[in-house]
Amino acid sequence: MNTRKLQTKISSLRGSIKVPGDKSISHRSIMFGSIAEGKTTVENFLPGADCLSTISCFKALGVQISADGDSVSIIGKGLEGLIEPVEQLDVGNSGTTIRLMMGILAGIDFHVSIQGDSSIAKRPMNRVVQPLRQMGAKIDGRKDGNFTPLSLRGGQLRGIRYELPVASAQVKSSILLAGLQAEGETVIIEPEKTRDHTERMISLFGGEIEKDGHKITIKGGQKLKGTHISVPGDISSAAFFMAAAAITENSEVVLENVGLNPTRTGIIDVLKEMGADITIDQAEESGEPYGTITVRSSQLRGITIGGSLIPRLIDEIPIIALLAAHASGTTIIKDAAELKVKETNRIDTVAGELSKLGADILAADDGLIIKGGKPLAGNTVSSHGDHRIGMMLAIAGLITEGEMNLTGSEAIEVSYPQFFDHLNTLLPS
Ligand code: S3P
Repeated sequence: MNTRKLQTKISSLRGSIKVPGDKSISHRSIMFGSIAEGKTTVENFLPGADCLSTISCFKALGVQISADGDSVSIIGKGLEGLIEPVEQLDVGNSGTTIRLMMGILAGIDFHVSIQGDSSIAKRPMNRVVQPLRQMGAKIDGRKDGNFTPLSLRGGQLRGIRYELPVASAQVKSSILLAGLQAEGETVIIEPEKTRDHTERMISLFGGEIEKDGHKITIKGGQKLKGTHISVPGDISSAAFFMAAAAITENSEVVLENVGLNPTRTGIIDVLKEMGADITIDQAEESGEPYGTITVRSSQLRGITIGGSLIPRLIDEIPIIALLAAHASGTTIIKDAAELKVKETNRIDTVAGELSKLGADILAADDGLIIKGGKPLAGNTVSSHGDHRIGMMLAIAGLITEGEMNLTGSEAIEVSYPQFFDHLNTLLPS
């Protein structure tokens, strides 16, 4: 495990960054390219550890994939082209890889054994195992299939009508990928709208999908055709620098080519409501909307965040907690119990680590209560192996007095390998 000395209290943050490709879209580009027929090319792919896990799993399933930095090409031979892997598939730290891939494998009559790292071993898989079993897949694993290692034997699936018990794009996507192969129609009802990259990608690969409010319908037996995908920058990565510019003095940061899919832009709504100086310049849409975001030093105030906004910013809650710790007044984050089953229990890790710096932050059952405005003081903090906790703490350093060290800084590689290089380019020389 690495310990990294963090940059503390700075006088300004200025410059422009092209954030790396979106993690969710990068995963899906490999998966859809692998099950489609013909060649798929991907530009601005995120070569972070999580998406590389997806590539290695699909290579192990017999797909020809060549990656050169952020360019990838995939020779898809359809679902029939996937072969029974000799070894156990390893998803590393990636919940998206395991949950979506299971939806694909559920429809194929061969045996697969899947595992990941120690964080994956704690994350609930029942949420996908249950509906996939209802559709006809045979899945087993630790604790009746709720935890890895999992073993799966797919086969002919039947369409189901499924009301999602939790708002989860991973579960929705897994069922959609199974639904593509099932007999008849699959209908999914979401309690709240979640990121819709899978639905968009099905259309992009020539598939048919119907959306009506919170209801999504897909017909089985569809074949997809390889295509070209240009991945927009990840708003979840941009969020760290958006926050950094807002909480530091004399700052202006421009973030180029950031994905602005409305199911992901909750962080922009929050920054605006907190009083941030933020400008959005949206470009022409091509599959996924994107644009340039500029954020300047801001006076922030506490707000209440909950309800349908939560899935639109679920991955940004660690950095929102830091914004709240810096803002005047109280911020309440509620309806976010899902945070407990992310890469770490993010209610506990965010509250624990920000408390170490002197923030007034309380862990609640379904969120956090933060009384902002207390000055932060340096300490040794930990990522707990969670990339977003690591990046949030590195940004916290920028407003912290004294020395600060981050243990487990290598976790950041999961979604933003150039994070510290990009941060350095913004610092005063
Ligand atoms: C993701 C969905 C979200 C998100 C995760 C990526 C995806 O998880 O937290 O980082 O790519 O579908 P849930 O769907 O479990 O909420």
